[in-house]
Amino acid sequence: MGRLDGKVALITGGARGQGRSHALTLAREGADVLVLDVAADIGAAAYGMATPEDLARTISEVEALGRRIIAVEGDVRSQEDLDQLVERGISTFGKIDIGVANAGIVSFDELWKISEDDWATVIDINLSGVWRTVKALAPHMIERREGSLILISSTNAHEGGEYRLSYVAAKHGVSGIVRSAALELGQYGIRVNEVCPGVVDTPMMNSQGTLDWLAGGEGLGTPDLVRKAAESFCVLADEALLDPQRISDAVLWLASEESRAVTGLEMHVDAGHRLLPGINAPTFYNQAYAAGISAD
Ligand SMILES: NC(=O)c1ccc[n+]([C@@H]2O[C@H](COP(=O)([O-])OP(=O)(O)OC[C@H]3O[C@@H](n4cnc5c(N)ncnc54)[C@H](O)[C@@H]3O)[C@@H](O)[C@H]2O)c1
Repeated sequence: MGRLDGKVALITGGARGQGRSHALTLAREGADVLVLDVAADIGAAAYGMATPEDLARTISEVEALGRRIIAVEGDVRSQEDLDQLVERGISTFGKIDIGVANAGIVSFDELWKISEDDWATVIDINLSGVWRTVKALAPHMIERREGSLILISSTNAHEGGEYRLSYVAAKHGVSGIVRSAALELGQYGIRVNEVCPGVVDTPMMNSQGTLDWLAGGEGLGTPDLVRKAAESFCVLADEALLDPQRISDAVLWLASEESRAVTGLEMHVDAGHRLLPGINAPTFYNQAYAAGISAD
């Protein structure tokens, strides 16, 4: 018996990374799955998005688990794309019980250099895309008087971060959507919760473009450096660079009946990051390097 037998879940950004992991985790527990992913590059990001081949891999891996899947190339910047998938899901599977608003991008730049276009793109995907996903699913869930909406934000929904202002602003906004939607939809038996991942080992984090921004220069980023940085970012050193499965485990719990009395939760899956005392990192590291202390 699976924890989601007979359920249907819609996941945005499910072609790879955390989204694919969510799709497989929910399918493993018995859910049929709907996936929407842009599967094409987006200029504002310094790394590539998923490809049609990635999306095909999600399809075959879900099917290998014996579950049904409808996966489409679509964009959370389009209400029509989301509405069409919801409509297809309802006509094929009869209902949708779970929505995971996971699609997102990160765009790095000094805040005074961010272009209007890049700002608008990140807000459109990471903030408005989450709202559109909720909007597409809410009428159906209201009609059925049940549903679990799981909105993926970030530690950056609750603290600042350098060189990614649009991302941080959008993720803070997702927290606002969670709190307001949980209040508004609770009367219909719909739960709305937020998962705030720490540093997760996916292409968003481990691609060269991102690694270089974290390292402070083109060509300087290495996977080893991001692993070390993640260790300083977290309390649980062995879990610092999170396997996407850790986030999927939280999503699964929020999707399941086990969390039926839980709504409006900020669920931090961050290896304890939020417990750490704040430091002025540039000052601290500049002084440490000046004193000859190496990162090893
Ligand atoms: N990786 C991390 O360290 C980290 C940390 C905290 C939060 N997050 C969040 O987790 C979520 C998943 O990210 P990930 O780590 O799996 O990254 P990822 O880049 O591997 O996956 C993101 C997926 O979203 C898709 N996507 C991007 N824009 C889209 C759009 N407009 N419409 C539809 N699909 C789109 C991409 O094609 C890709 O498949 C994002 O919301 C991200 O902000 C990631």
